[in-house]
Amino acid sequence: MVRIGILTSGGDCPGLNAVIRACVLRGIRIHRDEFVGFTDGWRGVVEGNTINLDWMSVRGIANLGGTILGTSRTNPLGEGGGGERIQATLRSLGIEALIVIGGEGTLAAAKILSDSGIPIVGVPKTVDNDLSATDFSFGFNTAVEIATEAIDRLKTTGQSHHRCMIAEVMGRHAGWIALYAGMATSAHAILIPEQKASLEEICEWVEGPFRRGRTPLVVVAEGFVSAEMTEPHSERGLDAFNRPRLGGIGERLAPIIEERTGIETRSTTLGHIQRGGAPSASDRVLATRLGLAAVDAVHDQSWGQMVATHGDKIVRVSLEESVGRLKTVPQSRYDEATYLFG
Ligand code: F6P
Repeated sequence: MVRIGILTSGGDCPGLNAVIRACVLRGIRIHRDEFVGFTDGWRGVVEGNTINLDWMSVRGIANLGGTILGTSRTNPLGEGGGGERIQATLRSLGIEALIVIGGEGTLAAAKILSDSGIPIVGVPKTVDNDLSATDFSFGFNTAVEIATEAIDRLKTTGQSHHRCMIAEVMGRHAGWIALYAGMATSAHAILIPEQKASLEEICEWVEGPFRRGRTPLVVVAEGFVSAEMTEPHSERGLDAFNRPRLGGIGERLAPIIEERTGIETRSTTLGHIQRGGAPSASDRVLATRLGLAAVDAVHDQSWGQMVATHGDKIVRVSLEESVGRLKTVPQSRYDEATYLFG
């Protein structure tokens, strides 16, 4: 029997509740564990805000979007936080292990806290799918499905009006959502953070299909930087980790494309729609498997480790390995897509 704290931190994504449910059910049924939920990410740990997590509280939540625990982008190492403060919270609540469900920023903080002696097991979470130590993270598949459905809709209205349509999707450092949703919707250009493209090239990719009587479709990731730009488009200040809030590159490109090509152009930013709502079946399964594995990792005292997917298998990798490097779209995968551009 272990008393385990769970938190979800950083941007939410579909599948978080399925992880929580799987942890709690496996822990209670197999190991007779007790669970405490920290509310709103690391803020809950720093301030000692908790909710009870028993069998009843996780009933029927695997298909629910969001997180029943709430989340935030609070940095646990920032003002008022730190290892000692967190140790004190855990001691006062009798918590012997922490399961931390989060993305790059969350896991980086988890690694530092784990190095300071706090017993932590990580679970990777990101719609951007940009954590290098796991082949896939839950939330990504759902985001791609949502983006694909939305872009299919943009195409039909574009066709009626003979317009060029731009769909902006999430993807801060990595263009996986753009690559998948763009390929799935036969985009004429896919613009991702990893690859520069000039405005001239983009306009050529738009003009080709228009001449053939098609509706040009451009799928752009929020983090895309054109050859003429020096940094990603951002006009909404910084987030809690001092990262620029992205969004709006599609709107920026639309008038340029329209002016250069003479083709009427509209842009739609899908934004947080990609992170909301029910997880896809495949994300529910992945999230559940990761949750089960995380509890087992706690019982093996695999501190400083994260559960991850390697092919069809769930494995453990060190947090160190997880946070060292981002998983960006490799050149070969982008090349596959470019054969179909224009
Ligand atoms: O990190 C995942 C992500 O979805 C990014 O693609 C995006 O830039 C960011 O989160 C948006 O976060 P917020 O919810 O704070 O606006």
